[in-house]
Amino acid sequence: MSEGSSARRRFVYVASGISALGGLLFGYDTGVISGALLFLKKDLGIQHDAFMQGLVTSAILIGAMIGALVCGSLADRLGRRRLTLLAGVVFGIGAIGAAASPDVAVLVLFRIVLGIGVGLASVIVPMYIAEISPAEVRGRLTSLNQLMITLGILVAYIVDYLLAPYAAWRWMFGLAVIPAAALFVGMYFMPETPRWLVGHGRLDVARQVLGRTRGEERIEEEIEGIQEAERRAREQAGWGELVKAWIRPALIVGLGLAILQQFVGINTIIYYAPTTLTKLGLGDSASILAQVGIGVVNVLFTFVAIRTLDTIGRKRLLLAGSVGMTASLAVLGFLTLAVGIKGGAIGIITIICLAVYIASFAATWGPTVWVMLPEIYPLRVRGPAEGLATWGNWASNFLVSLTFPSMLAGLGQGFSMLLFAGMGVVSFLFVLALVPETRGKTLEEIEEELNVEVDKAG
Ligand code: BGC
Repeated sequence: MSEGSSARRRFVYVASGISALGGLLFGYDTGVISGALLFLKKDLGIQHDAFMQGLVTSAILIGAMIGALVCGSLADRLGRRRLTLLAGVVFGIGAIGAAASPDVAVLVLFRIVLGIGVGLASVIVPMYIAEISPAEVRGRLTSLNQLMITLGILVAYIVDYLLAPYAAWRWMFGLAVIPAAALFVGMYFMPETPRWLVGHGRLDVARQVLGRTRGEERIEEEIEGIQEAERRAREQAGWGELVKAWIRPALIVGLGLAILQQFVGINTIIYYAPTTLTKLGLGDSASILAQVGIGVVNVLFTFVAIRTLDTIGRKRLLLAGSVGMTASLAVLGFLTLAVGIKGGAIGIITIICLAVYIASFAATWGPTVWVMLPEIYPLRVRGPAEGLATWGNWASNFLVSLTFPSMLAGLGQGFSMLLFAGMGVVSFLFVLALVPETRGKTLEEIEEELNVEVDKAG
């Protein structure tokens, strides 16, 4: 590799890495509640108020829905870089506010603020990385976002574990101010993406950024590709486009992926694992420790996706993930129905099933959905369309997380698991029938292919 090209590679990695701090905050702020709740409910006097506990937990998801929805048009208006800076500020305010909350109402308010940061980050980070990186490493770099989400969750579990003896829930929330500041400062020195710049007529700056990320010989070719996509988009531009026929295939694929990622039940484990584990007879701190184990599996298997997304491809990974999740959930479900939740040998099988399930998700659906969302939408509607799909992800997360405790009480553990296994089957069929392969193509090529398919259908 020439000196110039390795310097460019390094620059793309640094820019992606800094932007992915937004993913770290996404993971930390959603994961930290599992331990913090144990202590804040006593301090704030809500230990007998299940509704308030649920609200403190899911307020972040309400905020995330808001953030994801406004993010699309803000990303188009302000630019990807400035919106990331804004997300950093929102994360900082949320962290300090949550840590200093005098009562539960203020805490809920700041959890919503944090959620807005999470929602913004969930759209803008994959978009920034997808647009700043060259096609051949795009999958690997966008999945850096998911790696940081899983790292954020793991760090939150570890912080919870370490601070538990001091019941220091305020510190658990407050520490997030450190990555928030790092995101803001780091991003301040990073450039805007070439696609946004070309779209806003700033061709000179776009050329400079492409020079730093792609190499001289590809600059004009990429600029032309973006301009061509822009021209096509102008003929069909606007929010109203989201209901038109030509965009429908991409919209269905994006929303379907985003919603199914939650309907397979991942966050019943990410947010609620200690509850399940205590039922197996583990003590409180052993449960939090086992949850750290789940966090480690979650991080490690994300590397499988990073290595394979650009070689094996997105579609085959998703299919394999659906099979792994369905199988582990089905075994777990039938086992629970047959013998109930117990310790001993059954407990070990349960933990193995949980690990297989988490590994299957982490290596496939976790990263792939965030990698594909910014790939499948045409440039002009990318902001709003990605925002809509991401909103669908948060709304279904909210639905599952809010109803899971009642589902457990009503259906029981066994049938609940089988219900999620059923969703695993749905996710397999959905990918098989509708999801296109996007590995190795430029964003403009993917757009063209989706258009051609519509022309053929029409
Ligand atoms: C999902 C989150 C989930 C996380 C687990 C992400 O891709 O969107 O809802 O908590 O993966 O690692």
